[in-house]
Amino acid sequence: MKIAHVLSLIMLLLLVLLAGIGFQRFRGDAEVGKRLAENNCGVCHDMTAKRKNGKGPYLWEIYKRPAGVVDFSFSASFRQLVEEHPFLWDDDHLDRWLANPLAFIPKTKMSQQTKDHPVAFEGMDSSANRKDLITYLKSLQ
Ligand code: HEC
Repeated sequence: MKIAHVLSLIMLLLLVLLAGIGFQRFRGDAEVGKRLAENNCGVCHDMTAKRKNGKGPYLWEIYKRPAGVVDFSFSASFRQLVEEHPFLWDDDHLDRWLANPLAFIPKTKMSQQTKDHPVAFEGMDSSANRKDLITYLKSLQ
């Protein structure tokens, strides 16, 4: 084999490898998302089929679920937004919500500390992390 052939074969293999990695990033990584969810959401949200509310509503079947429909005492600001503009939790809404809940719904309970729950969630900056997290949320069904 000529050296040029070997080189183009190596280039081709590299391209296939890079395309594979690119595709993985595009889809989001549910394994990474699971860890992010356990660390950032699990303290307030049940993510199992048990459908138990905690400080926040349960997240089982959250993907494409209409916002604010589960039996949970949502904050007044959350209820008002959903009454005026009902929506489904699709990729776009989840991404905006998880990037900055207070910008999405001012005064939402998700970002408020209380005596019983000194932890609050103020948003996840990395769009790559949000994509992985949303990929995981889609699997909760
Ligand atoms: C400090 C507790 C807390 C943390 C941490 C938290 N949440 Fe929440 N979440 C809430 C509360 C409380 C609400 C209800 C908001 C309201 O009523 O204003 C909520 C609402 C939601 C909703 C809307 C559910 C529905 O039925 O419409 C989604 C989706 C959600 N959270 C996802 C997440 C994800 C994903 C994470 C992790 C990145 C997370 N939350 C972290 C407390 C929390």
